[in-house]
Amino acid sequence: MRTDDFAKGYSNIDVQEEVQPFIDYLKAVLENDQIIHYKVLMRRMMSLKKNGRYLEVGCGTGYDIAEIAKKLSSSGEAVGVDFSKGCLEYSQACYKEANLPLRFALGNAEDLRGDASKEYSRLEDNYFDACKTDRVLMHVGDPKRAISELKRVTKERGIVVVGEPDWGAFIINSDLNDISLKITNAMCSPESPVVKSPLIGRELYSHFVQCGFHHIDVTILNIPFYTLEEFNPIIPLDSFLEHALKIKAITEDEEKNFRKNLQKKDEQGEFFANYCFFIVKGEA
Ligand SMILES: C[S@@+](CC[C@H](N)C(=O)[O-])C[C@H]1O[C@@H](n2cnc3c(N)ncnc32)[C@H](O)[C@@H]1O
Repeated sequence: MRTDDFAKGYSNIDVQEEVQPFIDYLKAVLENDQIIHYKVLMRRMMSLKKNGRYLEVGCGTGYDIAEIAKKLSSSGEAVGVDFSKGCLEYSQACYKEANLPLRFALGNAEDLRGDASKEYSRLEDNYFDACKTDRVLMHVGDPKRAISELKRVTKERGIVVVGEPDWGAFIINSDLNDISLKITNAMCSPESPVVKSPLIGRELYSHFVQCGFHHIDVTILNIPFYTLEEFNPIIPLDSFLEHALKIKAITEDEEKNFRKNLQKKDEQGEFFANYCFFIVKGEA
């Protein structure tokens, strides 16, 4: 599979040849302690109660929504929505024996009112006590609409928590920082196939305000990487480099030198990159 197909694939996994590489990537990300840390924080922000109703949109492997379901009694309800049938089949198979108050449903973040022609389920107004989405809105063309849908399905005074990176605030240090900057700019170019909404992190607060949320809190986390070994499974750098080359933001020589320099920095114990992650919480 081409690397750019891989990263952009998250906006529609099912049209790709294989779903398994996407699942493998999501599972590899869960091996990173810093990722697990922010996921715990996001779940804590949802103020879970044993008999509450909770939703995750873009649930991927089902990991987070299953962790939520584990905190509930049998009268609680946890629902994981994704628009990839491949992901849902995987998560259903993982948790079918787990005896949790958990179900999975097909749906589109941008319109949770359902679509029978695509087998998308309808989610009712004012139903959930809290909803979350994590690293999904960067792949969505109209993230504000997705946030307003999360608000619609959440009870009045219920909580919505959204976590997204901001690729404009992503840092990768090298001795060739003129090239690093060209690469990070290319990541955020409007024609970037890698993510549809690369600056979603910084945009979230304004979307929450415009959607009418109350008591909005923004938490910004820095997730630093000190080795290529920990960086590579999380950040799709190959996809970003491929895109930068394609739009001629960098030359082939610059790409080669940049990669060589990152390798050298890593060997010298000097590798440094930082993923900037926004968590925004609001009351519906
Ligand atoms: C990068 S993965 C994140 C998965 C999960 N939230 C996690 O943290 O591991 C993005 C997920 O969002 C799903 N997705 C992307 N666009 C979507 C949309 N418009 N509606 C529903 N799910 C979507 C993808 O199928 C994929 O499972």
